[in-house]
Parts: sequence; C-alpha cells; structure tokens
Amino acid sequence: MILGIETSCDETSAAIVEAPLRVLSNVVSSQIDLHGPYGGVVPEIACRSHVRVLPQVIDEALRQAGVSYEHLDAVAVTVGPGLAGSLLVGLSAAKALALRLDLPMIAVNHLHGHLFSAFLDNDTPHPSRCLPFVGLIVSGGHTCLVHVDTLMHFRLLGQTIDDAAGEAFDKGANLLGLGYPGGPILDQMAANGNPAAIRFPRGRVTSKSGCGDLNPHLCFSYSGLKTSLRTYLQSHGVPDPDESVCADVVASYQEAIVQSIMARVELAMKDKDLLVVGGGVALNSRLRQLIRTRPDLKGKKVLLTPPKYCGDNAAMVAAVAGLGIGHRLENPFECDIQPNLAVAFAV
Ligand code: KG4
Ligand code: ZN
Repeated sequence: MILGIETSCDETSAAIVEAPLRVLSNVVSSQIDLHGPYGGVVPEIACRSHVRVLPQVIDEALRQAGVSYEHLDAVAVTVGPGLAGSLLVGLSAAKALALRLDLPMIAVNHLHGHLFSAFLDNDTPHPSRCLPFVGLIVSGGHTCLVHVDTLMHFRLLGQTIDDAAGEAFDKGANLLGLGYPGGPILDQMAANGNPAAIRFPRGRVTSKSGCGDLNPHLCFSYSGLKTSLRTYLQSHGVPDPDESVCADVVASYQEAIVQSIMARVELAMKDKDLLVVGGGVALNSRLRQLIRTRPDLKGKKVLLTPPKYCGDNAAMVAAVAGLGIGHRLENPFECDIQPNLAVAFAV
C-alpha cells in the first residue's frame, strides 16, 4: 500500500495505490485560480500553497481509500523535474512521514509518472507485458519521445529544443488574451474554427544545434510558432474571442502544434508496435483524435492515458513506485530534490 505525493508544479496531489497499479484514491488540488491572474505559474505562490494544502490532501486521500497510516508500506514522492520550492514541500512531507511511520521512502522521477500513467486503467495489461514501446510525454514542462526497452531502461529519442507543447498552448492563449492555462481554453475554442485557415509553421528542426546526439527529425521546436502568432496578431490585430476569426486562428495554431507532434510520432513508430501517450497535453481532443485515426498509425497499438490521469497527479507517482521503478531509500535523509532531472535518468 503506497502513499504517493506530487507537488512538482501547480497541483498538490496525494494518492493511495495498491501495488503495482490499483488506484484506491487520487486527490488533486489545483492552483489554477491562484496563478490565473498572473498568466502563468508563480513559483513562490506555488510552494506556499503546497505547504498550506498538502496535509489536508493527504488526509483526504487516506480517507477516500479507507486506509489509515498504519496500513501503509511505503511513501513515494516526486523529486524532480519541477520547481525547486514546490518539490521541497512534497519531499519534506514524505521524509517526515517515512521517518515517523518507519517506512521506506521511494523517490520518483515525475516524467516516469507521465510515462506509465496510461497503465492506470483496469483494462490495460501490466507494462512489463507491453515491452518494448515508444512513450510520448507532452506536458507543460516537457515534450519528448522515449524508447522504453525495459522497466528500468529508457532511451531518449527526441525532445523539444525550446518550449514544451503545453507552453506553446499557454503562451498562445496569453498572446490572444484568452486566459490561463491555455491548453483547455484553446482546445475548446478550436472545435469551432477552421484548422486550415492560417498556415502556421510546424516547427521542423533542421539543424543538429540544440539536439545534441538526438535525431533532429525527432526533436520539437515551438518558439518559432509562438513568434509567428505574435507577428500575425501584430499585423491583423488581436481578434475578439467571440469573432469566428478568433476560432480560426486558435484552430490553426493548435493544428500546427499537434501536427508537429504527429510527424515525429509517426517517424518514431516506423518499426515499432506500441505507442503510449501521457502528460497534460494528452488531454487535447484534436491530438487524441489524430492519434486514433492517423493512417500511419493504423495497425499499431496505442495506449492513451485516461483523461483523469493526464494532468499532474500522485496516482502516477505511487504507480511508478508500485512498478519498482523509483529509488527506494531506507534512510530518507539521503534524498534531495532534482529540479532538472531528465527522463532517461533514474533518480
Ligand atoms: O502534465 P501537466 O499537468 O503538468 C506538467 O507536468 O507540465 O501539463 C500541463 C499542461 C499545460 O500547459 C496545459 O495548458 C496543458 O497541459 N493542457 C492542454 C490541455 N489540457 C491541459 N493542452 C492542450 N489541450 C488540452 N485540452
Ligand atoms: Zn507533469
């Protein structure tokens, strides 16, 4: 019985998971209302809010699962990547609980949580029976393709060289004056627009610069798209949200983001059988539709994370621990936060 704790960014979450993957509760308290007026996450506000809310969130996760502290076998916590102050709140709570309850603490890479969140569904097989697979992580902080060889070995295939896909949604909504977070707002508005109205750049990465040893064709770039939207708005003016032209701009902008993701997914999947998709942007209805219907993915198996586990949540953190992927520490004092942790690295 694992208590999971997630505080890496702007969601405070605690969950109880019966190992490996049976979710008994998953409580998520969002800070959207606190950050909304600033148009993005304010780190100082985020960590102060985690401090205030986390104890109640943990109590509620235990209550909903019908579990008390003495039933727990381990405490799992995100140690990175994420905002340093926010990560420290979750880690401090996990350390205190592990010491007080005399339990092992399991340090978890947040990106591994997104990578395995698609398996948090009763109908999906255990991930060890699905190997190897290609993982697509699309979130507010990360956009990457990973080859999962074994549950212990992940190979980075490609990643963004500038903004993440979620950031592109958020910054686009900001430029259009539509609010925060941009992803869900643009997703909804795009449904009424014409995705072919404006041809925004698809972020092709042509040179190796910024990609290191990675294949540039599997890397992502969104800063040019954002600039292109800004230039468009400078010459055409910012449309009124009620005008149909606004929906057209949004649909076209969203189309550029999701088509750029699809092009890289198709390349990564050329001789592979299974695609697993997670992260907040995996909620996007156009992306979900394309992944399900794109001819190049026909005949391949796809596991899309269930919507309730796409955004940041502690069930995915506890699940990573349940799968034996996290780093188990008998002495929690040995653990520190790792704000820049990469997906291919163990904690
Ligand atoms: O995974 P997540 O909750 O947090 C991070 O680890 O970053 O992802 C948050 C991101 C935000 O950028 C948000 O705008 C985006 O996911 N997002 C969406 C949708 N819902 C949330 N992007 C596109 N379409 C959506 N429906
Ligand atoms: Zn995340």
